Amino acid sequence: MNTFGNKFRVSIFGESHGPVVGVTVDGVPAGLPLSADDFKADILRRKPGAVGTTPRVEADVPDFLSGVYEGHTTGTPLTIIFRNENTRSADYAGFRENPRPGHADHVADVKFSGFNDPRGGGHFSGRLTLGIVAAGVIAKKMHPELSVKAVLKEVGGIADASLWSEAVKAAAEEGDSLGGIVECRVQGLPIGLGEPFWDSVESLISHAVFAIPGVRGIEFGDGFGTARIKGSENTHKGGVVGGITNGEELLFRVAFKPTASIAKAGIPGRHDACFALRTPVITEAMTAIVFANL
Ligand SMILES: Cc1cc2nc3c(=O)[nH]c(=O)nc-3n(C[C@H](O)[C@H](O)[C@H](O)COP(=O)(O)O)c2cc1C
Repeated sequence: MNTFGNKFRVSIFGESHGPVVGVTVDGVPAGLPLSADDFKADILRRKPGAVGTTPRVEADVPDFLSGVYEGHTTGTPLTIIFRNENTRSADYAGFRENPRPGHADHVADVKFSGFNDPRGGGHFSGRLTLGIVAAGVIAKKMHPELSVKAVLKEVGGIADASLWSEAVKAAAEEGDSLGGIVECRVQGLPIGLGEPFWDSVESLISHAVFAIPGVRGIEFGDGFGTARIKGSENTHKGGVVGGITNGEELLFRVAFKPTASIAKAGIPGRHDACFALRTPVITEAMTAIVFANL
């Protein structure tokens, strides 16, 4: 199953080298103005183009199949597709026979009894995050009172952003890859969102954020650092207490692994040497989706 949420229900679909990837969102109120222009800025932030991102370039123009009429949402399920036009499936022909370590090729083959589409990672490709970004645009538009902002804080363990492109370039030249850390802040939250146990704000955000391919860790406020300080030193930053928003800024960080498909391991195809560069907007989208549900 590939659906998250109950009030703002998001289903993502498609395969990296199939005809389309996309998203269906149920729970969007009627009458919200919505056009392709609303998606431009966030889609651009997810697009490759920077040093260390995949050379596969797609137009990524949203095509509304349902739920939008004469520039406004209708209140019924809203489906958006994005066509896949720049595919080179021959590069990925052997992934069923030679599954990539660190990618989902083998588990997908076993779980779906060999019926999965293995081209370009199929349904497990980072390309599927385009639908997530689109749902995030709608969620943000529904809640203009919230400011959801994610930025990259580290690449390959380096905090100084002026050194990132050199580091990524050097790793790519060696046929290697780098990971990164994204920090997300949400302002404008009221006191009281979230539930005490299973649906705590941290649980829901973790649920959504771990659905982004390549996520390896998440910490709220001072996170793991709080285990190393005294109670008297702990200011409890982070914006959530008892699973419930406390009206302060929500702050969390997400760790993305280095790309598994690397030339050093003999893996063909067009890959991001550092896909973390493209993930702040995806992290924002997941966060906005969670708050649209709350
Ligand atoms: C935007 C984006 C782009 C990605 N690009 C690649 C890529 O080019 N090559 C690759 O091996 N993994 C890439 N990944 C990561 C894989 O999709 C991910 O590692 C894989 O699905 C296995 O999932 P897991 O790492 O969460 O276990 C990308 C992830 C994202 C979010």
